[in-house]
Amino acid sequence: MTDMLSLSDICAGYGETVVLDGISLTLGDGDNLAVLGRNGVGKTTLLATVMGHTTLHAGSVVFAGRDIARSAIYKRALAGIGYVPQEREIFPSLSVEENLTVAAQRRPGRANAWTMARVFDLFPSLAARRRNMGNQLSGGEQQMLSIGRALMGNPSLLLLDEPLEGLAPVIIDALIAALHRLRQEDRLAIMLVEQHARLALEFAPRVLILDRGKAVWAGDSRALLDDPQKLAGLIGVAG
Ligand SMILES: Nc1ncnc2c1ncn2[C@@H]1O[C@H](COP(=O)(O)OP(=O)(O)O)[C@@H](O)[C@H]1O
Ligand SMILES: [Mg+2]
Repeated sequence: MTDMLSLSDICAGYGETVVLDGISLTLGDGDNLAVLGRNGVGKTTLLATVMGHTTLHAGSVVFAGRDIARSAIYKRALAGIGYVPQEREIFPSLSVEENLTVAAQRRPGRANAWTMARVFDLFPSLAARRRNMGNQLSGGEQQMLSIGRALMGNPSLLLLDEPLEGLAPVIIDALIAALHRLRQEDRLAIMLVEQHARLALEFAPRVLILDRGKAVWAGDSRALLDDPQKLAGLIGVAG
């Protein structure tokens, strides 16, 4: 499997502040990786660094064979990285349809598979709300819209920052089912940051655990699912 994303010895943060201290990871085509850790250890900073929202002090970021460490955010998006931030960035005063339309991005020379119809097929409850404004949606619908917006950019890698946070179990089930479809039907690579550790480990075959900006454990998710004590020691609670 060729590497789609490769981070080597990343040191990154905000201005002078260094948050990530020597992180390395690789992700192949269609690979799914869970990123876990306590609050404030640098999970969001890691995804933000892949997207180009932080200050990179050292290390390299290679995506689809190109070093993108100095690339502008929009160029990373054009290269195929889709970012669903923790804050679910949607436009509150645009309708669901408009939110999706403005997020559409064609990628030259690539299959541009995503249409509004496909997003609605993935999230039927969003289809029912297509003419509602962003600020009229429930938390779960906002999360679906936020993911839908990222998909409209035709990504090959999706960065998801705590997509299940604060949602009811039935909505969580729907979102996880959608992620399974994305993996199976689109072979989408996914980096999934989660506080719901068990759900993330059940979804992604591999996991990276951060603590205070460093990688403290990496390996097969199964190993941690089978060893709840070890998991609890690494992230505090066993999700
Ligand atoms: N915009 C920012 N400017 C300065 N420091 C920040 C900023 N955002 C986060 N941090 C700090 O970076 C560290 C890691 O934060 P974050 O990546 O958000 O952690 P996590 O997502 O694991 O909860 C924390 O100490 C946090 O206070
Ligand atoms: Mg975070």
